[in-house]
Amino acid sequence: MAYTFSEITAAAETLDRIFAEAADKTDVLKAVELRALYEQIKLLEPDQRKAFGHEVNQLKNYLQSKVEAAKTAAETLPALDVTAPFDINVPKDKQPALLPTENGSIHPLMAELATVLDIFDRMGFTAVPSREIDDDYHMFGALNFPEGHPARDDYDTFMTEQTDANGKPLIAPAHTSTMQNRVLRRFASNLEQGQPIAAVIPGRVFRNEDLDARHEHTFYQLEGIYVDKGIHAGNLIATLKTFLQEYYGKVLEIKTQPFYFPFTEPSFEFALSCPFCDKQGCNICSQSGWIELLGCGLIHPNVLREAGIDPTIYSGFAWGGGIERLVMMKHGIEDIRHFESGKLDFLRQF
Ligand code: DAH
Repeated sequence: MAYTFSEITAAAETLDRIFAEAADKTDVLKAVELRALYEQIKLLEPDQRKAFGHEVNQLKNYLQSKVEAAKTAAETLPALDVTAPFDINVPKDKQPALLPTENGSIHPLMAELATVLDIFDRMGFTAVPSREIDDDYHMFGALNFPEGHPARDDYDTFMTEQTDANGKPLIAPAHTSTMQNRVLRRFASNLEQGQPIAAVIPGRVFRNEDLDARHEHTFYQLEGIYVDKGIHAGNLIATLKTFLQEYYGKVLEIKTQPFYFPFTEPSFEFALSCPFCDKQGCNICSQSGWIELLGCGLIHPNVLREAGIDPTIYSGFAWGGGIERLVMMKHGIEDIRHFESGKLDFLRQF
């Protein structure tokens, strides 16, 4: 703001500085520099008094509006260092937080995942988290998808411009099966000690999908692996049936039908009787009485061999399925897109 009186211009500059530096912004209204201007009005000749007084009032109004604005402005929080490691030992009130933690709640998907992992923990399965970026070898090669095999097209996902050591783009994994080779290798020594490999692998997966009530580009899967001597399809079915009855809290009929996955032989699609209508047919099961839940099968000998496990001695089963679908069926959620929508009216129901 420009003033015609040089004393007012000088005082305005000083007062701006006082305002900027003050912890309590109202200090500026009590500053001696402002009071001195009011004192000066009385000493001026009558012909100057009016114009000077008018500018002093303008200055005061300007400062007052700055003080008001400062009161309502959002509190500026110090910038978070997103690269800093999270230290669990920092006292709770000193931990960085974007929102007061008491206003938050556990996302329904994560709450259900904890229940799922707890059931598998009691069944003897160790949980291993999956990765959110992977390479061509773990996505395809280690899972018996030869180079150029048409089955690769079923897993259309996102790739980065960055490439791996073999010049292949890195991949946002389209399924948690990318972890199979790593998990088999990690627990292979169990077999030598007469123990099975029993692991579940929860993780986020990505697909280049047309979005609708049943399809999302980002969702969660749970992979399961079990390897020991003499494992057969009956073990697979019994394991999944036991889990599902525990999760839904009721006895359910299951159905398997032949399918194709390169990494299992034989492969199955696994369906269960609709827990909402007891096979009578309803909206949730598209009137069929059955809900397709996951893919599974006996681990292909090439997959075991690739992980250094002798398929002539050991055999195993594996499965993989979407966690959202499991939860949608449990709570009657009609649209998969609710989970990632961030809609509070959806989240507050849980
Ligand atoms: N990864 C498969 C998919 O997302 C599902 C699957 C099928 C996983 C068979 C398995 C399996 O572990 O054995 O379509």
